[in-house]
Amino acid sequence: MAKSTKSSNKRARPLAAVILAAGQGKRMRSARPKVLHDVAGRPLISHVLGSVAALGASPTVVVVGHQADAVRAAVGNGKVATVLQSEQLGTGHAVMQARPSLDGFEGDVLVLCGDVPLLRSETMQELVLEHRRAGAKVTVLSAKVEDPTGYGRIVRGKSDGELRIVEDADATDDEVMIDEINTGTYCFDAQFLAAELDRLGRDNAQGEYYLTDLIEIASLQGAAACATLEEGEEGLGVNSRADLARVESLLQERLILEWMDQGVTFLDPPSTMLSVDVRIGPDSVIGPSVRLAGATIIGAGCVLEGASFLRNTRVGDGALVRWGVVADDAVIGEGAKVGPYAHLRPQAELGADVHIGNFVEVKKSTIGARSKANHLAYIGDSTVGEDANIGAGTITCNYDGFRKHRTVIGDRVQIGSDTQLVAPVTVGADSYIAAGSTITRDVEPGSLAFNDKPQRVRGGWVESFRSRQAPKEKK
Ligand code: UD1
Ligand code: CA
Repeated sequence: MAKSTKSSNKRARPLAAVILAAGQGKRMRSARPKVLHDVAGRPLISHVLGSVAALGASPTVVVVGHQADAVRAAVGNGKVATVLQSEQLGTGHAVMQARPSLDGFEGDVLVLCGDVPLLRSETMQELVLEHRRAGAKVTVLSAKVEDPTGYGRIVRGKSDGELRIVEDADATDDEVMIDEINTGTYCFDAQFLAAELDRLGRDNAQGEYYLTDLIEIASLQGAAACATLEEGEEGLGVNSRADLARVESLLQERLILEWMDQGVTFLDPPSTMLSVDVRIGPDSVIGPSVRLAGATIIGAGCVLEGASFLRNTRVGDGALVRWGVVADDAVIGEGAKVGPYAHLRPQAELGADVHIGNFVEVKKSTIGARSKANHLAYIGDSTVGEDANIGAGTITCNYDGFRKHRTVIGDRVQIGSDTQLVAPVTVGADSYIAAGSTITRDVEPGSLAFNDKPQRVRGGWVESFRSRQAPKEKK
């Protein structure tokens, strides 16, 4: 299919869309309906809806059936119209259910499958334009693929418009050899669709109403056309877990190329996984085995060394995320350094230039600019001011078995190593906490707090201990 240089469509012929999503997807062997399996962080059906949205098709109708409520919820209950196909009697039957929603609609109807997520909106648009140029009643979108197994095959006759589709299950030995497949994407003239749907029967291998039979019906009226994808992979449908993995990797390749075009470096693209909702600033470097999930936003000039998982996390410009960081619903300030091996749990908010080092866990806490917790600490339910230093092994004891309590640490506070802060507790600004303290009461600003733990020494103890042990060992 040739790409149009002009995307403007002067004939303002109305466009509607019907997305088929009622099937169970038996070959997935899943408790979840097929169209709700995720690729690049979103359900298959959302990818299709996202591409359709750009076309402004109205109405856009999703046919739901198997686990209808779950599918309705995923398509944003009420955001697009849904119709129920209570028994899944085939793709033709699914479109029949959408007919009342199209009552009185004049124009073209794009029919798409909810399990074909790689199709770009530009391609959908081009299909519509080609359909209109050809003056066809139906135009099917085909693709040439290496392995056509499972797909409907495009059977072309002697003349250009002589077309039909034969399903895999119904194909003859010759027909199964055809490598041009039906992507399950069509543009119909609305009146043709409304009038001819009733002619579909169930006399086939699967006993289903095949939407694909409408191609031959149009062909006999001299009004069928076929547009072929330039990149066949765009038309891949997901029927199995293997297809899901294949589509995921193709989508990752596509997303990563897009971000490379925006000035992002990926050290090992094949091991990187992005969600479609991720944003990455220019001159950031993403190391191997990094997964960015949800609506994660990475600023400009950041370095993610590798082996990290960030979900719904915002990373400020120039931050360094070292090896092995897990961050979930967190904020990392500009120029901050995190890791290696740090865990930022929900609502961890690090200010600018904060340092969080190895084996430090932060949860539901804000940490002010330039403050540091560089080694082995747990900071939970806390507010830490600016320029504070939290020593190695500091623990906020935030949980009494019933409730979580807050710890407040003021600006410029120095917390000595191996300190327990038993919440609720406040350490005033500029205070020092001696190493090994257990702080149970508030500390006034500017104070030194410590526990009386006098050091005692027994001189010569080791020598006498060793001589007491030696005879026992000989036995
Ligand atoms: C269908 C096409 C096939 C094409 C392939 C492309 C038919 C008869 N066959 O086959 O030519 O190559 O898609 O991927 O159309 N659905 C419903 N209600 C139903 C049945 C299906 O809504 O009663 C939905 C499914 O949820 C799915 C889509 O229609 O999103 C396609 O159904 P599926 O069973 O996967 O069809 P295929 O056998 O792949
Ligand atoms: Ca399919």
